[in-house]
Amino acid sequence: MRDRKSAASIDTLAVHAARPAETAAGDVTPAIHVSTTYERDVDGQYRRGYQYIRDGNPNRAALESGIAALEGAATGVAFSSGSAATLALFQVAAMRGSILATDSSYHGTLRQLRELVPAFGGQVRLVDTTSLSAVESAMDEGVALMFVETPSNPLMGVSDIGELARVADRFGAVLACDNTFATPVLQRPIEHGASIVLHSSTKYLGGHSDVMGGIVLGGEDDWMEAISHIRGAAGATPSPFDCWLYQRSLPTLPLRVRRQSDTAACIARFLSGHKSVERVHYPGLASHPNHSVAGSQMSGFGGIISFQLCGGLEGAMETAARVELFTRATSLGGVESLIEHRASIEGTGTTTPDNLLRISVGLESPEDLIADLHQALGQSPTR
Ligand SMILES: Cc1ncc(COP(=O)(O)O)c(C=O)c1O
Repeated sequence: MRDRKSAASIDTLAVHAARPAETAAGDVTPAIHVSTTYERDVDGQYRRGYQYIRDGNPNRAALESGIAALEGAATGVAFSSGSAATLALFQVAAMRGSILATDSSYHGTLRQLRELVPAFGGQVRLVDTTSLSAVESAMDEGVALMFVETPSNPLMGVSDIGELARVADRFGAVLACDNTFATPVLQRPIEHGASIVLHSSTKYLGGHSDVMGGIVLGGEDDWMEAISHIRGAAGATPSPFDCWLYQRSLPTLPLRVRRQSDTAACIARFLSGHKSVERVHYPGLASHPNHSVAGSQMSGFGGIISFQLCGGLEGAMETAARVELFTRATSLGGVESLIEHRASIEGTGTTTPDNLLRISVGLESPEDLIADLHQALGQSPTR
């Protein structure tokens, strides 16, 4: 039989990549393997490949190799959250040198870089990675890891993966890319020169707002070995049921993400023409400062839009209060559309403008979502 994982199309890969090739019973839908421990052979060996659940589990193995196939990576290491994945990567990096990272990354990632990494002796440089010159002037041979979040959460900053990979390479550093917002459907960082890709799989990879996880993808090298070692030793592993939920969700990933991206493009155009909206942050708009970079590395611009209201904090809160189809909630990437006021969830120290709302576009009809925003924005102050 043809190797399903070597199929060229991401649509085919998504359906087949995280499924077992064959099982004793011939399951079409993967089984859930809940056993925490595995029997040794009579001579004391573990020839069937599994010993203890923290070290390995068939659902986790299928998930890891499946997402690795989607990203064009050789290996994957799945975690119990995206934050556990970023921290393991930073722990490995800090043992090897400094970390240079996107200064507008997800606020939880910045908290790790500002508080946790320095606490265990790591050196961090937070840089505007959307500017190649800013990165070049902050780089030197002391940097072991360049960590880039593109598009970034929530300001949708876009960094040039190919150019940054060349800079990292020149200084002997490894480039890692948080690909949570784009997913491998819209952006495959390894094809642009990144060595490591990371996801909060709580978002699009799960896709139904019902499972938390993270994953690091990369080559068969000492970085991935060290990340896997930390995961095994620290124990931040996803449960078999969580892994199975991802196995169930991956086949629809391309359909969901393309649809969400197309709808988001319509909504971004609507918002940018609305008189109550001060500014729209969406890489698909020609007004985005790195629109051409986004176009060169993404096949669609994603399902997340941030926008700033003319009516300030009050205008933003009132608009969020008036929506009927969008749910007021944090997180993103699910089938239902969410809207949220970022600054108040990020808390003290946030640099997110207080008139900013972030939308995660779901699978509802674009016309219905636009009509809902239209009515919610109807009574807002205008420019
Ligand atoms: C871009 C990005 N990376 C990492 C994370 C952390 O992931 P998790 O919430 O699964 O720990 C998030 C969470 O929102 C995120 O948006």
